[in-house]
Amino acid sequence: MLNQGRWANAVLYLVEHGGERWVVKDFAARPWLVRATIGRLFVAREHDALHRLQGIAGVPRDPFRLDAYAVAYRYVAGNTLTRSTLDGRYGEFFSDLERLVQQIHSIGLVHLDSRNSRNILVTDDARPVLIDFQSHLGTRRMPRALRRWFEEYDMAGVYKHWARRSPDTIDAARLEHLQAMNRWRRFWILRGYLGVRKSRPLE
Ligand SMILES: Nc1ncnc2c1ncn2[C@@H]1O[C@H](COP(=O)(O)OP(=O)(O)O)[C@@H](O)[C@H]1O
Ligand SMILES: [Mg+2]
Repeated sequence: MLNQGRWANAVLYLVEHGGERWVVKDFAARPWLVRATIGRLFVAREHDALHRLQGIAGVPRDPFRLDAYAVAYRYVAGNTLTRSTLDGRYGEFFSDLERLVQQIHSIGLVHLDSRNSRNILVTDDARPVLIDFQSHLGTRRMPRALRRWFEEYDMAGVYKHWARRSPDTIDAARLEHLQAMNRWRRFWILRGYLGVRKSRPLE
């Protein structure tokens, strides 16, 4: 088992078959209501996104559906960004990650969960791989301004990790992008509390 997850998450398994390693992301173990609703939906969404993105280095390869509740794709040897230190070689890693997110955007998709460092893998040769596309959106038919806003939201996730882990290698323009998005985030988080102000640490 790679990841147990909570009640609304899939269970992730590492499966070895014929000498090849695969990840199986599976909602089968979840209560039927979860499995039959978000399970089905997320598995279909994850498969669709990965399928569309094949050909980009930096996205798990060879996705396929096992059944209605499970999707499989190639295992990526490495670590999550949460746990990797990259031996301090962050600058190159984050500009690679920025390029990867731009490529994903140019295909017509936004990830929307790049702020979570468990969704970013660091391969053994220090390359970024983005995983977990179950909350993605297709952007092809979006109004241009909305598409741009979602793309900026994704990129702010990249810059959040970059600024935290390697403040010396991120430039002023990228920091300003991150700060502009954080102003938005504070606005909608406050609205979520129905006007009750809570002080939150800056992210
Ligand atoms: N292709 C992969 N290679 C290696 N580890 C993976 C891979 N896919 C997922 N994982 C591991 O499983 C965890 C959860 O996967 P994820 O797709 O983000 O599921 P969830 O939707 O539950 O967040 C990741 O944080 C990572 O540790
Ligand atoms: Mg995830």
